[in-house]
Amino acid sequence: MKKVSIEKVGQAFEIECSDIAADKSISHRCAMFSLLSDQVSQVSNFLMAEDTLASLDIAQLLGADVKVEGSSVTITPPEQLSEPFDILDCGNAGTGMRLYCGLLSAIEGSFVLTGDKYLRKRPMGRVVKPLRAIGAKIDGRENGDKAPLHIRGGALESFEYESPIDSAQVKSALILAGLNAAGKSYYREKFLSRDHTERMLRGMGAQIESIKRDGKEWIEITPLNKPLDPLEITVPSDPSSGFFFAVAAAIVPGAKVVLKSLSLNPSRIEAYRVLESMGATIEYTLKEDKYEPIGDITVSNSGQLSAVSVESNIAWLIDELPALAIAMSVAKGNSVVKNAKELRVKESDRISAVVNALEKCGIVVDEYEDGYKIEGGRLKSATIDSCGDHRVAMSFAVAGLLCGMEIEDIACVDTSFPNFFDILKRITGVSFEN
Ligand code: S3P
Repeated sequence: MKKVSIEKVGQAFEIECSDIAADKSISHRCAMFSLLSDQVSQVSNFLMAEDTLASLDIAQLLGADVKVEGSSVTITPPEQLSEPFDILDCGNAGTGMRLYCGLLSAIEGSFVLTGDKYLRKRPMGRVVKPLRAIGAKIDGRENGDKAPLHIRGGALESFEYESPIDSAQVKSALILAGLNAAGKSYYREKFLSRDHTERMLRGMGAQIESIKRDGKEWIEITPLNKPLDPLEITVPSDPSSGFFFAVAAAIVPGAKVVLKSLSLNPSRIEAYRVLESMGATIEYTLKEDKYEPIGDITVSNSGQLSAVSVESNIAWLIDELPALAIAMSVAKGNSVVKNAKELRVKESDRISAVVNALEKCGIVVDEYEDGYKIEGGRLKSATIDSCGDHRVAMSFAVAGLLCGMEIEDIACVDTSFPNFFDILKRITGVSFEN
């Protein structure tokens, strides 16, 4: 139960960060998608954090030869994915578990997917139900809604599935299943969730098309008739990880942060747009565009932030809402987040974690089933329970810049951003206690 104390920052700061953690979503996908090729994939700047290393370990247990040198990873897929001799441990990662469900459902063999105590509480029915409907044999606790899950892989039927939730994890699981199904499959989501799966698989040669049918957008998935091309990719930095420092710049008078080489995928930078609408000055510089648009984001403080209402495009900023809550807590006026019920089933119940922590910091908050209202005010120092959630821990560490903060149970930060506190130390005093 490691604990950290963050000192109130004494003065304005200016930092450039070329070391924001590599993108978690893309790194998971690199580990998994390389298994769909018959050649060697080369991944540079792979995220060396617990969540994504768990996905890499699973690739290895499935027969891949994985070589790691610094943050470069070479993945040689096996001729055929084989039944592992052990359980597959996804750690804290919902992305790992849900995507592997889709991938393994079509592979002959017996697979057990498990995770840490937080992941074992999270709903898996959202992928298990549609996969069962096309013939996947999956079981687990609570009739397959909770891990450990057992998959007996085999033949899958093609499908036409309209998802009731806008989730990139559900979409990706179904796309992976569709690549091995009996015929063309069709997937539809009401609002485009992050699209790394479509971009990367297309880049590897898969036929995944956006089509219009009856005036509605669908994704058409054509089953693979040969192995995919290997990945040759440098993973960009993670805009969700960079966002903690964007908020740091936005709330500290006179501060400026330059975040280098982030994914500028539109489905990932909505929170920066919201911060901009609250009054922060933000500049985007596009540098390249292969699988993903990649570039720099500069965030400068422009004085007092204004309150904002966030009720739409939720899937595009779901991971950044805890950090955005810190900006909201010092903005002028009442900010509102609605339609964000998904927050309740993330690494923690993020609605209750954020509301409880803000109240401890002296902020007036109303909790809704699907969000909260935050009355902008003055944050005061407190001792915060991270609830085992990396994004809660890092958001309140950033809040500490304004008033000092103690955060308990910070081991979770290693799941996505192991060097977070090293970067924070370039701004303020940070001390650890066991
Ligand atoms: C992710 C999708 C999002 C996000 C998660 C990573 C992904 O979850 O919250 O951190 O890599 O596909 P949902 O798609 O379930 O909303």
